[in-house]
Amino acid sequence: MADSTTRDILVTSALPYANGSLHLGHLLEMVQTDIWVRFQKSRGHQCRYVCADDAHGTAIMLTAEKLGISPEEQIKRVQAEHERDTAGFLIGFDNYYSTHSPENRAWSEEIYRRLKANGHIVSRAITQAFDPEKELFLADRFIKGSCPSCKAEDQYGDNCEACGATYSPTDLINPVSALSGATPIEKESEHFFFTLPVFSDMLKEWIDSGTLQPQIANKLREWTDAGLQEWDISRDAPYFGFEIPGEPGKYFYVWLDAPIGYMASFQNLCEREDLDFDRYWQPGGDTELYHFIGKDIINFHGLFWPAMLHSAKLRTPTAIYAHGFLTVNGTKMSKSRGTFIKASTYLEHLEAEYLRYYFAAKLSASVDDIDLNLEDFAKRVNADVVGKVVNIASRCAGFLRKRFDNTLTVQCSEPELVQSFIERGEHIATLYEGREFNKAIREIISLADRANQYIDEKKPWVLAKQEGSEQEVHDVCSVGINLFRVLMSYLKPVLPAMAEKSEAFLNHSLDWTALKGPLLGHQLNNFKPLMTRIEAKQIEAMLEASREQAPETAAAASSSAGLKPAAQDSAENAYIEFDDFAKVDLRVVEIVAADHVEGADKLLRLTLSLGDGEQRQVFAGIKSAYQPEDLVGKHTVMVANLAPRKMRFGVSEGMVLAAGPGGKDIYLLEPHQGAQPGMQVK
Ligand code: MSP
Ligand code: ZN
Repeated sequence: MADSTTRDILVTSALPYANGSLHLGHLLEMVQTDIWVRFQKSRGHQCRYVCADDAHGTAIMLTAEKLGISPEEQIKRVQAEHERDTAGFLIGFDNYYSTHSPENRAWSEEIYRRLKANGHIVSRAITQAFDPEKELFLADRFIKGSCPSCKAEDQYGDNCEACGATYSPTDLINPVSALSGATPIEKESEHFFFTLPVFSDMLKEWIDSGTLQPQIANKLREWTDAGLQEWDISRDAPYFGFEIPGEPGKYFYVWLDAPIGYMASFQNLCEREDLDFDRYWQPGGDTELYHFIGKDIINFHGLFWPAMLHSAKLRTPTAIYAHGFLTVNGTKMSKSRGTFIKASTYLEHLEAEYLRYYFAAKLSASVDDIDLNLEDFAKRVNADVVGKVVNIASRCAGFLRKRFDNTLTVQCSEPELVQSFIERGEHIATLYEGREFNKAIREIISLADRANQYIDEKKPWVLAKQEGSEQEVHDVCSVGINLFRVLMSYLKPVLPAMAEKSEAFLNHSLDWTALKGPLLGHQLNNFKPLMTRIEAKQIEAMLEASREQAPETAAAASSSAGLKPAAQDSAENAYIEFDDFAKVDLRVVEIVAADHVEGADKLLRLTLSLGDGEQRQVFAGIKSAYQPEDLVGKHTVMVANLAPRKMRFGVSEGMVLAAGPGGKDIYLLEPHQGAQPGMQVK
C-alpha cells in the first residue's frame, strides 16, 4: 500500500436478479458506480468493486420451472448474459459472483447463528394464503381477485390498479392463485423473524449520522418514527435458496442472503487476490464501505442490513448512495413504445461510451429520476464529446504529423493556460467524489470550450499558410494537445475506452495524479478517430429492435413486463370517452396464412383477409402458443387502423387481439359463428 493518504475502499452496486436481462435502468446504477470506482482508482486509492447476481427466490424457481430447466441452470445462463452485457458497458467489476455460492451460504448461516445467539431471531406461526394445487405459499403478488372497494376484476393481492386502494390478499373478492388459478386456502406455518424494533435506537443514530442523503434519511426516519416491525426472514419449501440451519423445510428469504452476497463476492475476491477480508468487515477499521442502490430498495439497505450487521458484530456501511429511476423520453420504460431497452439491444446499435457520457452528464448526488431523452442524448454526445473534446485533438494532430514529425515543442508557449487546466483538477475531483458527475462534466466541457476558443483565436490553419509562422503553428498545436491530455485525464473514469485510444495517440498513459505540467518534446503516435457521431438511424434501429422484442398482441404486451403488468399511468386514465374507443377500427378477419418467420423467436407472420380481396400482413407474438397450421381458416379480430410498423422482417399492418399472460397462455379472440371478414367490431 502507498502513503497514508491512500484509502481502502469497497464498493458495491445492487445485485441484479438472476431472473431476466439487464436493461438500461440497471446500467444507470452500474455506470454511476463504475465511474466513481474508476475515479477513486485514478486518484491512487485502493478501491474494489464487487457485485453478483441475486440468484434466490420464488420468481427464479418459477421461471426455471416454466423453461423446464433447473434453477441452477437458469441462474448460470443469466449470469453469463449479465457478465457479457456489463463487460460491453465497460463496467470494471473486480469480482462478479452469485449469491448461490458456498461463501454466501457460509456467511448467511454464520450471521443467522450470531443473530440467534443474541436473541434477535424469534419464531411464531402465521397464517398465509396457500395454493393447494401448486402446494406453495403465495406472496401477495401471486394472488388475484376483485378489488374489495371498487370491485374491479383481476387485481393483485396488495393493491388495486383501478382505484388505487391498498389491502391484504384476504380482502380480495373471489381470490385465485395467479400461478394455477386455484382458490387459495389459508394455511398456518411457522416463520422466523428478525427483531428489528430492538434496533430502533441504533438505527436512529445511524440515520442521523450525516452520511446518508437527506431525502433518504427523511424516508428512513418516517419508517422508524412509525414504529418498526419484526422482519419475516423465512420462507417455506419449495423455495430456491439456503435452508435455515437446524430448521428443515425452512429457507432464508432471498432478501436475507442478498446483501450478505456483497460480503461473499468480496470474500471470493480476497481468496483470489490474497486480500485481508476482515480488515473490511470488522467494526472500527480504517476501510470504507459503500453501497450504490436504487431508491426502491432503501428499506433493505438502510434498516434491515445495518441492523443485521450490528447484531452480528460486523461493520456497518460508511454510506449508502441511492439514485433515482431511469425514464426514457420522459416516461417509464415501455415495451410497446420500444423504450424498454435491454442492455444487449443497446449495444447492438450504439457505443457503450455514448451512454456512459450521457449518464455522467445527468447524474448527481440526489435521488431524482434521470431521463434518457434520446434526441438530447444524440445532440449532447455529438456536441460535447465529438464536437468539443475530440475536436481539440483532431484539429491539432494533422499539423503535428505533417509538419513536425508528431513531436510536441520542447517549450510550452502557454504555460499558464495549461497550468490553469491542471489546477481545476482538484475542484473536479471534489465533484466526482461527491457524485456530482453532472457538475464535473460541466466543468470539463467548459474547459474544452476554452481550449477550442484558444485554437480558434490562434487559427493554426491560417498561420500554416503564412511564411515564417512555423514555430507558432507548432506552439499552438502542442498547447492544444496538452490541453486535450488534461481533459482526457479527467474524463477517463467516464470514457475508459476513448481514454485508452487517446493514450495510444499520446504515447503516454493518462494519469490524473501525474498531471504536473505540460508534456514537452514528446513523441506522439498517429492520430486515429476517437469517437464517431451518433446517427439518428442508430437510435431508430435500437427502438425498432426493442419493439420487436415486445409481444405483438395487446394482451401479451401489457403483461410481459413481469407477472404484474406495469401500473396504469394514473387513476384519471381509468376511463376513456366513447369517441376514443371509436377511433379504434376493429375488424373481423380470416387468417388465410400463418408462417414461421426466419430469425424471430416469438413471431408468426399472419396473412389476414378483410374480405373483398383486401389482405393485411401482421407479425404477432403468438409463436409460443400456436402452431401456424392450427390457425389457417380461423376467424379473429384485428386493429385495422394501427399505423403500419416497419420491422426487421417486413411491415406489420395491424395487430390481432388476444388474452392471457403470455408464453403458452395466449388466446386469440374468435368471433361467434356467422361473423364475416371485414365486419366492424363495435
Ligand atoms: N436483487 C435486488 C437487489 C439486491 S441487493 C442486495 C434487486 N434487483 S433488481 O434487478 O430489481 O434491481 C437491481 C438494481 O437496479 C436496484 O438498485 C434497482 O433500483 C436498480 N434499477 C432497476 N430498475 C431501474 C431503473 N429503471 N432505473 C434505475 N435503477 C433501476 O432489486
Ligand atoms: Zn379498486
